[in-house]
Amino acid sequence: MSDFKDYLKAHVALVDEALDQFLPAESESPQTIHQAMRYSIFAGGKRLRPILTLAAAKACGGGSDQALAPACAVEMMHTYSLIHDDLPGMDNDDLRRGRPTSHKVYGEGMAVLAGDALLTEAFITLASTQANERYPLKEILLEFATCGGSKKLIGGQVLDLEGENQDLALDQLIQIHENKTAALLTTSLRLGAMSANATEEQLAALTDFGYHLGLAFQVIDDILDVTQSTEKLGKTAGKDEAAQKATYPAILGLEESKKEAKRLTKKALNALKIFGAQAKDLEAIAHYLLDRDY
Ligand code: IPE
Ligand code: IPE
Ligand code: MG
Ligand code: MG
Ligand code: MG
Repeated sequence: MSDFKDYLKAHVALVDEALDQFLPAESESPQTIHQAMRYSIFAGGKRLRPILTLAAAKACGGGSDQALAPACAVEMMHTYSLIHDDLPGMDNDDLRRGRPTSHKVYGEGMAVLAGDALLTEAFITLASTQANERYPLKEILLEFATCGGSKKLIGGQVLDLEGENQDLALDQLIQIHENKTAALLTTSLRLGAMSANATEEQLAALTDFGYHLGLAFQVIDDILDVTQSTEKLGKTAGKDEAAQKATYPAILGLEESKKEAKRLTKKALNALKIFGAQAKDLEAIAHYLLDRDY
């Protein structure tokens, strides 16, 4: 197995163990909600966002001890956003992470609540982050809350829904991607940096990296929806076109979208220069995301 595969495997395990510690046990009452929260969290996602948090902390000279609480918080926010994204009133998906979606198993009401509960638990988890000289807990919490709010992640989801069946211009599509996807990837990196007492220069560089990586990530997600099978993705393929979503392949075509993903990844990698060898994990993650097939 390659070193990078080993790296991913070890970090997924680290994050999974920490998530298990932070989340209420299934046996806690009411059991249904705790089962539903764990069903979606432990369904086998890539854990990209928490791994970015840990890698950003490392690039800034910090350890994973301080970064695990923010890492788990971003994965909880992400999983909540997926549960709600799949609801009948949103993308109406039956399959997620290779399993039936939350509402298919627990019903719509419980899926809404499981999402709400994961988002709330994310804040409880983040609040256990140890503050340091440069970043008081208030700033850490505000970074996270702003990212999840109506001007960023939720705002992006609103524009995504409103963009269905519309002929959007490229700048409008970029605005959707910036908010629904790039914002949380950027915040995942920034929280890792903050937990490591990053300098202003380091934080700015990771913000630049996250913005471009986040855009590339959603362009690739849109490409995979066209080019891969449902089995491979663990979520229903071809659904963007069926729902007439505004996507890169729809607006620019597949080949131009692939080129754009490469250009964006290159820009992301450029932002890491100030870190030298300390950013080698982040670099490897960016390459892996560009080449991924699920
Ligand atoms: C899917 O994210 C949603 C997008 C923002 C494109 P991921 O592809 O990271 O999903 P998991 O966490 O691996 O399931
Ligand atoms: C999801 O985007 C973005 C968020 C959940 C915030 P998509 O709708 O493209 O994600 P998938 O393809 O269902 O994973
Ligand atoms: Mg969606
Ligand atoms: Mg979706
Ligand atoms: Mg998608």
